[in-house]
Amino acid sequence: MSTQQANDFDKISLTAFMVSLARQFTDIPHARELAQLVEAQRFVELSLPKHQDKSVLLTARVEARYKAINQVMAQYQITQVLELASGLLPRGINLSCDPNITFVETDLPAMIRCKQQLVQQLIGERPNLHFVEIDATSSPSDFFKSTVHLKSGQPVTVLCEGLLTHLTLPEKQRVCANVREMLRAYGGVWITPDFIDTASLSLSLQKDPDLQKLIQTGTNFTGRSLVDNNFTTPDQAREFACEQGFRVVEYSMMNAINELSSLKILGVDAEVVEKMLATQSVFALTLDIAN
Ligand SMILES: C[S@@+](CC[C@H](N)C(=O)[O-])C[C@H]1O[C@@H](n2cnc3c(N)ncnc32)[C@H](O)[C@@H]1O
Repeated sequence: MSTQQANDFDKISLTAFMVSLARQFTDIPHARELAQLVEAQRFVELSLPKHQDKSVLLTARVEARYKAINQVMAQYQITQVLELASGLLPRGINLSCDPNITFVETDLPAMIRCKQQLVQQLIGERPNLHFVEIDATSSPSDFFKSTVHLKSGQPVTVLCEGLLTHLTLPEKQRVCANVREMLRAYGGVWITPDFIDTASLSLSLQKDPDLQKLIQTGTNFTGRSLVDNNFTTPDQAREFACEQGFRVVEYSMMNAINELSSLKILGVDAEVVEKMLATQSVFALTLDIAN
């Protein structure tokens, strides 16, 4: 894995817009409205390849990880959620419909301000939906900026999707340390599909030239290579998570295959998507008490 210049995280924020555009071709509630607002308000001028937003595998991957995370969340009792690198995800809007859930969306300052503004336009304010500026790699940790919204004595569910994949190994280690600190204080679980290996990524790239172009565009924006910044094999990804002091339970992303609306919406070959998802997992990480 490569080393990386510090303080260039804002460049990664552009990928949140790419992912949001892809997510509009799904039935995930509010995904379409958020993408349309982003397009209408021209928050960013993206010079994307033609039809970028119709990369079939990107949409399927993004939909699968959202729904697979929801499935894993259903195994736990959820009362408060800390979502890292929320970008333009609609999960906060969707889960905070339940007044018994406290949802804290977090991201880098510019991104989270943009998100808060968009959510305000869509649904107004909700007393149980909060927006906090957090650099997930911060040291000392920024995570405690969120504690004003969290109830002590109740476990917290930490979520992130599409963050660690962009980070170098030392940056991933800092996120792990910050999550560990949070779980030590509150208890709970970290649910993420972000421990990915490059073998499965390469397979997806071979199958979808549009995805190849998109990933290249993302790399040009961020200056970060998804291939360099991820694990060579699934075993390496698992080992890393364990070395970071977590007990890992893995759930196959295939569990979400029957819920994928994008297959129909974009007319995708289910077999290709199955091959991609078969190699991918959502990890549920809890503190390893031996550490
Ligand atoms: C690929 S986007 C994913 C966004 C969202 N999770 C989703 O799935 O749509 C990556 C996100 O990571 C955020 N990000 C990048 N570096 C970060 C950091 N150091 N701390 C917190 N968020 C960060 C970006 O602002 C962006 O929203």
